[in-house]
Amino acid sequence: MTNIQASGSPNSELNNGIEQIAEIVRESSYVVGMTGAGMSVESGIPPFRGVDGLWTKYGAPKMDGYSQFKKDPTGWWNRRTNEKIDDHIIELRDALATAEPHAGHYALAELEKIGSIRSLVTQNIDALDEKAGLENLIEIHGNRTKLRCIECGDRESLGDFVPLFAPDPCKKCDGLVKFDTVMFGEPIPSDVMASARAEIDKADCVLAIGTSATVRPASGLLWIAEASGATIIEINPTETKLTSICKVSLRSTAGEALPMLLQSLSA
Ligand code: APR
Repeated sequence: MTNIQASGSPNSELNNGIEQIAEIVRESSYVVGMTGAGMSVESGIPPFRGVDGLWTKYGAPKMDGYSQFKKDPTGWWNRRTNEKIDDHIIELRDALATAEPHAGHYALAELEKIGSIRSLVTQNIDALDEKAGLENLIEIHGNRTKLRCIECGDRESLGDFVPLFAPDPCKKCDGLVKFDTVMFGEPIPSDVMASARAEIDKADCVLAIGTSATVRPASGLLWIAEASGATIIEINPTETKLTSICKVSLRSTAGEALPMLLQSLSA
């Protein structure tokens, strides 16, 4: 395992690290990307853990959001006014409202176009990957711009309208509708979990970018990939739980490393 402490370009450590990752990607037949909140930090969205993390700043939220919602969905929706929403939600929501994809998102979309990566499993709900042009995209924690029926899984786009009060029941099955974003305590919808697992099962290399690899079941997919022989690569300014199983762990950021990786693989 090469643990490359390289950040702050241009430097030979960083360039060597990029070249090592590019070599592994060239030699692989099915590379899957797995991104976390760190992928969107350079778009102005705070991560959850580590430096500047929302949970670091405000403390981790209660893990019963989903059960609270199901207990009183109308009350949950009616509390969607600023006065009664936690500070961390307001800070995240304000950042999400103005965030745009950065060079790293566009580099990932280009890496998919040239076939270097075959799909992207993202834990992010910010819809920036879709906006940057990623096509084979699995949003394992949902998408903040969509509503989802918790009975039949039907999803519809919010458009510009963010409901403050309970939306109508599902048009297809009359079921309870919530934001598509997966709440703490909510099972990951079976369709996206199946799609993510199917991609991981095909991967002979997983490129983990900007994730602390701490939240299961999403992060568990990384160890499942490794157990079935896939090469794990990490791009993250800090070490994580994943570092020890990575063939290359590059101390860099998504916005710095991904355009360099694209340049190397497009040459
Ligand atoms: N580029 C790449 N990585 C970065 C950057 C950056 N510019 N800035 C920070 N990071 C790294 C941090 O070092 C950290 O390891 O991104 C990681 C962010 O970790 P988390 O905040 O834990 O985010 P994530 O792994 O996506 O969390 C998983 O937890 O709270 C839930 O639902 C939430 O989807 C989220 C899940």
